Amino acid sequence: MPRSQVITAIDLGTDKCTTLIATLDKETNQLHVKGVSAVPSRGVRKSQIVDLEKAITTMTESLDAAERMAGFDVKSAYVSVSGTHIKSQNSKGVVAVAAPNQEIVSQDVERVIEAARAISLPADRSVIHVIPRDFKVDSQEGIKDPVGMNGVRLESEAHIITGMTTALKNLEKCVQDLGLSVDGFVFSGLSASEVVVSETERELGVVVVDIGAGSTSLCVFVEGTLELSASLPIGARHITQDIALGCRVSLEAAEKIKFGLTSNDPKEMKPRPGENKEEFTKRRKLADVIDPTELGINDPMENLSKKKIIEGIMVPRMKEIFTMVGKKLEHKNLIPVIPAGVIISGGGAETVGIQEIARRTLNLPARIGMPKEIKGLTMDIHNPSFVNSIGLLEYGRQRAGKSSARSGIQLGSFFKSVFGKKFSEAISSFFKSLMP
Ligand SMILES: Nc1ncnc2c1ncn2[C@@H]1O[C@H](COP(=O)(O)OP(=O)(O)OP(=O)(O)O)[C@@H](O)[C@H]1O
Ligand SMILES: [Mg+2]
Repeated sequence: MPRSQVITAIDLGTDKCTTLIATLDKETNQLHVKGVSAVPSRGVRKSQIVDLEKAITTMTESLDAAERMAGFDVKSAYVSVSGTHIKSQNSKGVVAVAAPNQEIVSQDVERVIEAARAISLPADRSVIHVIPRDFKVDSQEGIKDPVGMNGVRLESEAHIITGMTTALKNLEKCVQDLGLSVDGFVFSGLSASEVVVSETERELGVVVVDIGAGSTSLCVFVEGTLELSASLPIGARHITQDIALGCRVSLEAAEKIKFGLTSNDPKEMKPRPGENKEEFTKRRKLADVIDPTELGINDPMENLSKKKIIEGIMVPRMKEIFTMVGKKLEHKNLIPVIPAGVIISGGGAETVGIQEIARRTLNLPARIGMPKEIKGLTMDIHNPSFVNSIGLLEYGRQRAGKSSARSGIQLGSFFKSVFGKKFSEAISSFFKSLMP
């Protein structure tokens, strides 16, 4: 038996298409990144494919570059899904315990999850994930692993994430055109959660806000289980568009201005030792003017103030993003149950001052979600905009060896850590039974 297995992640975003190729050492259960590539995306708008041919060209470029770096070709990949077509609901299933002695076995768990999965969906939507939340045995609630318990009636609640069938089909077509099969579709909010949320935060209650270029994905965890998944039609590209409009510059120049501000927040400027107030004010005024040459901008530009761009253009848009997040949370009355606050990931998490805006707008603690350490060629990917693709690898790592991974249904550490090994195995065998 080979000692290692290849896991590939493809994240076709609005801004960039990332491919990560890693090997999983079966002994140490550790990932080792061998190939990394991120190329500008074409054919994608608001996180959905709008031009199949361009999307295929983008993915091919990205995959080829990652394979060249890894030095070998891959056969299948985990694929990220996002966009406003993503919706979620919590559903219940009930079964009678089958054994005459009324001891619950893994088959009862399989049946009850299947019952919870049976929701009526319009023909144009498909199930992406079925994530069991908890179980009820007779009148006892909040059971994480019912196997071995005694009871007559077994109930389960599951979190179900669905998406538009056409969006999934288009993604699958692209991947198949590359000669690969899909190991699983993974909602981007969920893949981000895999690598940015701690167990304690999951238990306490937390919302992961993944701000991509074209959309923002949310996952809310309450008492260790996934309560809500959603996607908002707003992203970091809106900030760029606002800068372009407000400063009358091209989108390309606006993007450079935005990036320049990330690494050079005017608020961070401090007086130098020995510098008097007047000198400091003068220096600050000079430093507040954007230098186009420094940013590599060739467009003709009037003198632009960094402070005015941040406060007058970027902050209102960031506030709008978090106001929309807040509305989504309030609608389900979730604000009081997420004391661990907001974890921001995705490229948008790099926007200057975003953590503070999130904290003030939602009145909750906020932090930036950095991907956890991973071995290999990871120098350029240790930042929030690679959280989704690293999360896909992590998702694949947890599923490795458990199933042939065709349906894109959530398994993994989530169950293992929250519900225990026995339960995780029961779930695994259940999903295997669903596979063709
Ligand atoms: N250093 C940075 N400073 C400011 N913004 C940044 C920085 N890095 C990336 N971004 C912004 O993040 C966005 C890209 O994020 P990401 O790569 O997560 O998006 P995507 O996955 O391509 O899109 P989506 O998931 O919405 O389809 C862009 O709008 C980009 O301007
Ligand atoms: Mg993304």
